[in-house]
Amino acid sequence: MKHSIFKLVSSLAILFAITSNCKIMGQTSQTDAAIYKKIDEQIKQMTLEEKVGMIHASSSFTSGGVKRLNIPELTMSDGPHGVRIEQGRHWDAGNVHVNDSGTYLPTGVCLASTWNPKLGYAYGSVLGSEANARGKDVILGPGINIIRTPLNGRNFEYQSEDPFLVSKMVVGYIRGVQDQGIAACAKHYLANNQETKRGSINVLMSERALREIYLPGFKAAVTEGGVYAVMGAYNKFRGEWCTENDYLVNKILKKELGFKGVLMSDWGAVHNTMEALWYGTDLEMGTDLGGVKYNKFFLGDTVITLVKKGIVDERLIDEKVKRILYVMYKTHKFDKRPVGSFSTKEHFATAKKVADEGIVLLKNNNNILPLNKNGIKSIALIGVNAARLQSEGGGSSQVRTKYEITPQEGLNRISGSSITISYSPGYEIMRNGTANKQLIEAAVEAAKKADVAIVVGGWAHGYNNYAWRDNAYDAEGIDKPNMDMPFGQNELIEAVVKANPKTIVVLMGGGPIDVSGWVDNIPAIVQAWYPGSEGGNALAEILFGQINPSGKLPMTFPKHLSENPAYALGQYPGDSVNVLYNDDIFVGYRYFDTYKVEPQFAFGHGLSYTKFSYSNMNVVPGNQSATVTLTVTNTGKVAGAEVVQVYVKDDVSTLKRPEKELKGFEKVFLKPGESKKVTIALGKDAFQYYNDIKGQWVLEPGKFTIMVGSSSRDIRATKGIEIR
Ligand code: BGC
Repeated sequence: MKHSIFKLVSSLAILFAITSNCKIMGQTSQTDAAIYKKIDEQIKQMTLEEKVGMIHASSSFTSGGVKRLNIPELTMSDGPHGVRIEQGRHWDAGNVHVNDSGTYLPTGVCLASTWNPKLGYAYGSVLGSEANARGKDVILGPGINIIRTPLNGRNFEYQSEDPFLVSKMVVGYIRGVQDQGIAACAKHYLANNQETKRGSINVLMSERALREIYLPGFKAAVTEGGVYAVMGAYNKFRGEWCTENDYLVNKILKKELGFKGVLMSDWGAVHNTMEALWYGTDLEMGTDLGGVKYNKFFLGDTVITLVKKGIVDERLIDEKVKRILYVMYKTHKFDKRPVGSFSTKEHFATAKKVADEGIVLLKNNNNILPLNKNGIKSIALIGVNAARLQSEGGGSSQVRTKYEITPQEGLNRISGSSITISYSPGYEIMRNGTANKQLIEAAVEAAKKADVAIVVGGWAHGYNNYAWRDNAYDAEGIDKPNMDMPFGQNELIEAVVKANPKTIVVLMGGGPIDVSGWVDNIPAIVQAWYPGSEGGNALAEILFGQINPSGKLPMTFPKHLSENPAYALGQYPGDSVNVLYNDDIFVGYRYFDTYKVEPQFAFGHGLSYTKFSYSNMNVVPGNQSATVTLTVTNTGKVAGAEVVQVYVKDDVSTLKRPEKELKGFEKVFLKPGESKKVTIALGKDAFQYYNDIKGQWVLEPGKFTIMVGSSSRDIRATKGIEIR
């Protein structure tokens, strides 16, 4: 029987391991010991009903408190790139700030494109501070699922196809949030790599893919970031729902990684009371839709009955309450929390900085960019995304922001009166939208008359900014139907560039789009993601060279969807029951480089207005480690930043390994002519792989190749070493 006494023993073992474990996640033993002492006292005073009241939602964004004992509710807010603000008890009971609006940070994928972990921290600090100012305790972010297919509707919220990059960015984000006294919540644990059938599919992947690709971000969130909350995913993993998954939650997250916080369900993701009780769910979240009141949730009244009948041991409930109280102590629910603020100049400045460093220059033939303010008199600005607000679209991550600068506003500001900017939409966002001949003609006419044409298009948060359930692109709950430019944008771009060869294309969106039809004809392409409140300013400053772009792609852009490994090797979106990850560890560039498939734009790619040279590369092997040094020089005329990337290749291994894997990087800021020595340490992790025949990480001594470069496909220096 599944719910055997063995399970009780294993759950209780975790409980005792937690209470006796002295030093995890940088907390001193005294602090935690003192906290647990207080928690034990509180639990002793609680009735069973009061305990059960704490392990399920009490409104859409709160879990229950115990008034009698002065234990408050725990309050939560989406989401990954801004504090979501809505009216009423549902969201913001009694909050005096409900009519305010906050900072809309560039979405996760733009943050990852900065390759600057310090910005991860700054980003998290903004969220923490704004959550604080609104009396929230938990920010439901970061979203850190691996970008496996370009079609996932939530790629814009996530970060990268590469687990190393995710891990580095996520730690800063979490610490930034939590240093403000707010809990971060890493989501969605695990394998929420598609929205299609997210509530029913069963993901099947090898242990190696789990260990090498899909788990590291969460591992870093717990062991390095010290995250206080993790949200389970909607899908199943190896036959069990992720939130109530003995292997993922009890064995890996809580036991192996030593997670001490709360594993909460995604909204409405619990399916079974006993499984949730046994297999690790601490808190069932959701909304009382369809007349299901909160006390009727799976972890509601039924639990009281089960305990009273002696079917469930009350200590299982105590463990969950203990974890919730632990998060309350960590978020200062019982003492004084730092004061927060929202929509401050500084917060918007952080949003701007992330956009400045996250926007990626994909192509720039003959240095058509940056535009010269004195050299042009007119711009034909074309495309719906040039004038469209993106903040309130996309699903639960929507943000009501104080302001959002569109590309049109940004360009108008920067051009002043010296440049005339015309605007034509060029296409229409509508269901099954195809090319609109009239709009294309108008755009072509405008392009003909202007010195430069700028088309701002790509993906968008669907048809309607506000009704996210109706969205079809870059939206929660639904994947994109294909990777093609929607709404007839291919025809538009082809016609515009014919009319004006000086056409620049700016793409917005959460990831790759098929540009293969026109990429060779367009001299400059910029990937702007969803760049947040200050996005339009950042973009305009990049186009005019006031900011030198330094973003790098956190995922591969395939030429065609069929070349993405989820299609080429694996299954996507799967059959109605299972999704088989046969692509295994060959996700993103690990596939393109190993299987020798030419990408459209490579992982790690991003151009600058200056040039960088790499010299003096040296690698000194140590004990199961190595130190890489090199000199990077800005050989151009303007200041800029280069992301030095270190890739490792295992020359000979028992199991097949990728052609290269990112194991280190550093963003280096250089003035013209300036050189800097870069030192990147490679630890044991850089050389080992997970051998799922042995069921363990192995470092096979022997020859390795170390590559340093400006992207995964622009390797500037290589050195062979021997690791013992
Ligand atoms: C999403 C979560 C989100 C939650 C609360 C769910 O639909 O998957 O990411 O935090 O709603 O809004």
